[in-house]
Amino acid sequence: MTRFIGYNGFDLDLPHILRAENTCLYDSQGKRYVDMESGVWCMGIGHGHPRVIEALTGQARQICHTGYSYSTPKVEEASAEVLETSGLTEGKCAFLCSGSEAVEYMVRVFRQVDHRPFLMTFTDSYFGAYGDAHRKSPDEWFLFDWSDCAACGPDLVCGPDCPAWRKIPFPEIGGFLFEPGSSAGLVRFPPSKLVSALARQIKQNQGWLLVNEVTTGMGRTGEWFGFSHYCLAPDAVALGKGLGNGYPVSAALLSPRLAESLGGEAVKYAQSHQNDPLGAAVALAVLRAIKEEDLITKGRRISQVLLEGLAAIKKATGKIKEIRGRGLMVAVELNGGPDAAFTGQVRRGLLDRGYIIAQRPGLNTIRLDPALTMEMSDLKGFLAAFEQVLQQET
Ligand SMILES: Cc1ncc(COP(=O)(O)O)c(C=O)c1O
Repeated sequence: MTRFIGYNGFDLDLPHILRAENTCLYDSQGKRYVDMESGVWCMGIGHGHPRVIEALTGQARQICHTGYSYSTPKVEEASAEVLETSGLTEGKCAFLCSGSEAVEYMVRVFRQVDHRPFLMTFTDSYFGAYGDAHRKSPDEWFLFDWSDCAACGPDLVCGPDCPAWRKIPFPEIGGFLFEPGSSAGLVRFPPSKLVSALARQIKQNQGWLLVNEVTTGMGRTGEWFGFSHYCLAPDAVALGKGLGNGYPVSAALLSPRLAESLGGEAVKYAQSHQNDPLGAAVALAVLRAIKEEDLITKGRRISQVLLEGLAAIKKATGKIKEIRGRGLMVAVELNGGPDAAFTGQVRRGLLDRGYIIAQRPGLNTIRLDPALTMEMSDLKGFLAAFEQVLQQET
């Protein structure tokens, strides 16, 4: 029996993992597992990256935590780097501790500067474990369901000629919080035409475009950020997961326009570890590793092999219903029954062969979100094992 409280609905298959190296985990018997989902999609540049270890140990030796009235140059340096990377160069940044927190911070800033009743978002977006964006209270959030937009195909209207568009109460909406690749919707990418039209309308009304990059950021979708696929200019960006590569640091980035709109007022939010130098040092190391080691290009190559390999397996086995993916954010829907038993067998079969995949409880969809640094040999090993397991399981 374990004494810690695990993830709701997930089996704790491997309680004896002792160490990790890049995308591989090793248990107490020395058995090796390839993690195809990067923990909870956090290990974007793999376990034990030398720059991250150096940042953690070097910064920990100097100073980990600061107070209300003092900081260190590392925090300033990391803020400048993350803002510049995201295109918000003259903006402002707050380092926080989780993706949920970064989104919450962004929403609080929005509510401080804009007093219109609603923030708009898509029904299938996920923002975190708690807070305003988690509750999505109907008094404060307008939820737009874009699931029917796919049926419009290239003829998508996205304007007053669309009945769904006409129901959006634009004058009462002060901002659009966009997740550029739905995690909770099991990897779905809203159409560019719709997103651009909504963003344009919001901006025309002097509203704010907030982007949740907790999952899609840091190269996960083949670009630095998920919003890069949509040609948007966000007013705020929330980063988490891959920013800390396993260390709990996140960031809320504000554009110059949004930061100035605070009018010199402090953001009404504070917690003990805001702008801790340890987290900032890790974030800086991760940003620099991705840039200097050209890991986004490397991730794109891995993505291509993964997506092509999955398409070939779909054809060969007939057991895959749909593959959805952008970069290294991928979902594979299997042709399983409503009890998801077949998908469970596939997951176990892969685990026995040393591959970890994510299956959301009760669903026939598996998630594959490997690190940008994955070795090609491990990826090819996974594809071979996946095909074998699909062929064997009935
Ligand atoms: C899109 C998205 N936003 C926010 C979060 C919340 O991040 P965290 O779990 O680090 O609080 C998650 C977590 O899975 C996520 O996928």
